[in-house]
Amino acid sequence: MQVKTIAVIGAGIMGRGIAHAAAIGGYRTILEDLVPAALRRAESEIRTNLDKAVELGKVTGPDADAAFGRVEYAGSVEDAAREADLVIEAVPEEMESKIEIFTLLDKICRPTTILASNTSSLSITEIASVTYRAKKCLGMHFFNPVHKMKLLEIVRALETDEDTLGAAVDVGRRMGKEVVVIKEAPGFITSRINAMIGNEAFYMLQEGIASAADIDKALKLGLNHPMGPFELVDLVGLDTRLNILEYLHKSLGEKYRPAPLLVQYVKAGRLGRKSGRGVYEYPEAAAKQESPAGVRG
Ligand SMILES: NC(=O)c1ccc[n+]([C@@H]2O[C@H](COP(=O)([O-])OP(=O)(O)OC[C@H]3O[C@@H](n4cnc5c(N)ncnc54)[C@H](O)[C@@H]3O)[C@@H](O)[C@H]2O)c1
Repeated sequence: MQVKTIAVIGAGIMGRGIAHAAAIGGYRTILEDLVPAALRRAESEIRTNLDKAVELGKVTGPDADAAFGRVEYAGSVEDAAREADLVIEAVPEEMESKIEIFTLLDKICRPTTILASNTSSLSITEIASVTYRAKKCLGMHFFNPVHKMKLLEIVRALETDEDTLGAAVDVGRRMGKEVVVIKEAPGFITSRINAMIGNEAFYMLQEGIASAADIDKALKLGLNHPMGPFELVDLVGLDTRLNILEYLHKSLGEKYRPAPLLVQYVKAGRLGRKSGRGVYEYPEAAAKQESPAGVRG
């Protein structure tokens, strides 16, 4: 099937980046979030990132303006998804939320619409099982920041059919991504390996082996990682990483048990860049916080 309109549900770190990439790929793009402020922030970040791309000579000014004009903003899942050929869900990493959204999408979308989740680890087969279109469900796992990162992991669930996979691969390529297609497994390729490295780094910090900055430095300069594990987890969000580890721990066993220090940071509201403080501090983001770190919503 040919995809022309893409709806993105959830306009957080990932949703707004996916909307940016979809618009650059030439798709009519409709972005939705429960929280109106998230949509306003998404609109301003998409504009800023498109302007940076123009400065760097990656896109022309007119192409950036056209992409910006292709993004629409919706206040309800119904308004966003009704006309979509592909819906990409990017709400928080909790199975109950994903199931709630997929149940609703299955009711309101056309029977031909493909439903994708950007989950970093959860079972697409389980999410798809609440719909009457499991063969049209799959994982499209983008990376943060989406407008810069090249990879798209496409996850084939138990029932996903070839047409659905083919359409998702085409969309990924038109968004400018390199695609790998994998068979569903907890954490896929990237989240499983990355969660292990990040968790080990938290155990080391907790054991007092080295400072966070030195652990980051060691991985960057000694192992050639482009970012240290703490810089990366602050970007990803400590809550998102904890959710992934809890799921891996439950499904794959003891070696994925989340480090107690990570659990404690999340309890303290130290969620990373988005909350102004994670392993490191981000005074600019902290100044934008409307409530204490531990108060959500
Ligand atoms: N952060 C990363 O680096 C990263 C990378 C790859 C994949 N992911 C995955 O992407 C998904 C989203 O993660 P994120 O980091 O963007 O989270 P986030 O917390 O930044 O954003 C989630 C957004 O979803 C909105 N939301 C919550 N419930 C909703 C609902 N019912 N309907 C509409 N909007 C709703 C929230 O208001 C928020 O704006 C998760 O599954 C995560 O595992 C995250």
